[in-house]
Amino acid sequence: MLRPVGSRAPVPHSGTHLGLPWAENYHTWYMGSGTQALSAAVRLAISWSSLEGAVPEVILPAYGCPDLVAAVVAQGARPVLVDLLPDCPFMDTEKLSQALSDATVAVIGAGFLGMPEQLPMLADLCRERGVWLIEDSAQCFPPDCAREPIADCAVLSFGRGKPINLMGGGALLVRDDHNPAAANVLCGLPEEQLKIDWKWKVRRRLFNFLLGRFGYGLLRRIPFLGLGTTVYKPLTSLYRVRLPAGLLEAGILEARVRPAIASKYGQKLEFLRQLGWSLFMDSKVSGANGEGQVILRYGFLAPNRKTRDRAIKALNRNGIGANAFYGQALPDIEGVSGLLHGSARNFPNAASFAERLITLPSHEDVTDQDVSVIVTMLSAATARD
Ligand SMILES: Cc1ncc(COP(=O)(O)O)c(C=O)c1O
Repeated sequence: MLRPVGSRAPVPHSGTHLGLPWAENYHTWYMGSGTQALSAAVRLAISWSSLEGAVPEVILPAYGCPDLVAAVVAQGARPVLVDLLPDCPFMDTEKLSQALSDATVAVIGAGFLGMPEQLPMLADLCRERGVWLIEDSAQCFPPDCAREPIADCAVLSFGRGKPINLMGGGALLVRDDHNPAAANVLCGLPEEQLKIDWKWKVRRRLFNFLLGRFGYGLLRRIPFLGLGTTVYKPLTSLYRVRLPAGLLEAGILEARVRPAIASKYGQKLEFLRQLGWSLFMDSKVSGANGEGQVILRYGFLAPNRKTRDRAIKALNRNGIGANAFYGQALPDIEGVSGLLHGSARNFPNAASFAERLITLPSHEDVTDQDVSVIVTMLSAATARD
C-alpha cells in the first residue's frame, strides 16, 4: 500500500550552516508541536491587543485541522469560523470582514496541503482592524513569510506526515518588530532538550520502515491505531524545545530535493475537469510562486460525495493511499461542535468542500506506475456516474 503522506525523518547534518529562509525578518522559537506554536502565537496576539474584559476572538477557516480550535481554546479565546470561497480551501474575505469584531485579536491564515493562504489580502484586512495575522504553515514549506514578511508571526509543524518531518515538534516564527515583547512571554515557558540518543534513533528507523509499502500495509491492519481518522485533541501543555544542531537543516535539505509531483498530477488529471471535477492545486503550487513548495498531498474535488467515496474505495483497493482528509467541516468534527457557534449548515462552501475533497499521495515514493493506476481508477469511478 502506498502511504497517503509522510517523508522519511532525517538525521542531523553535522557542519551544515544553512541559514533559515525566514531568518532575515523572523526570530525562531522551537516548540513542542505545531499546535503549541499556534497557541503561543494566539497568546502573543492577546497580550499585544488592548482588549480588556471581553473574551478574545480568533478567526479561522470553517474547514480545517481541529488543532486550530485546540490552540485557540487553550488560551481562553473563542474560535470564530469563516466560510471558504466556493471550491477553494481559502477563506472568503468578504465573510471574514463581517466576522471581525471589537474582540478579534487575530486571524489565522492556514495554508492547505502546501498552498499558502491568500496572505496579502488577509494582511490588508488585519492591518485595517489592528489585529494580528498568524500564518499557519504547518502543511506548507517554506512558509510564505520567508518570501514577504507580512504575517505578524508564522507557525511550522515538524510532526509525522508534515513537509519537514522531525517526528514531532514545531516552531513559532515571530517577526522582529514583535520579538522583544514576545520574548517576555515566551521565555517564561518551560524548555526541553530534544536528545538524539539511541531511543530516538530506533524510533526513526522504525518510523522510516513503516513508511515503505510493506511497512505501511502492516500498519493499516492494526484497527485500534485509527490511522488517518480526524479527532479533536485538547491542548494541555505548552513548552519550548531546544533542537539539536543540524536537525532542521537536514529536514530542509531533504525537502528541497524531493520531486515536485503537483504539475504531473495536474497534467494527467486534466481530463477530469470536463467531467465536473475541480482541480484547484496545480496552478498554485507549480507556477512561479510555488517554486520549491513542498506539497503535503494532491487535493481536488469530485462532482459529488458519492463519486468521491467510490473513487477513494477503488484507489485504496488498488494500493493507493487516497483519502478524504478531514472528511467534515470543523463544526461536524466530534468534540469540536460544543466549542463553536453555528453548525456546518452555516458554512455551505466548507461543507461542500469536505464532502467532495479527495487527496492523493505526493511524496517521493509515488511512481509513474502509481500515477497510471490513479488515472485508470478515477476514469472508472467517473464513468459510472
Ligand atoms: C494546518 C495545521 N495547523 C496546525 C497543526 C498542528 O500541528 P502539530 O500536529 O504539530 O501539533 C496541523 C496538524 O496537522 C495542521 O494541519
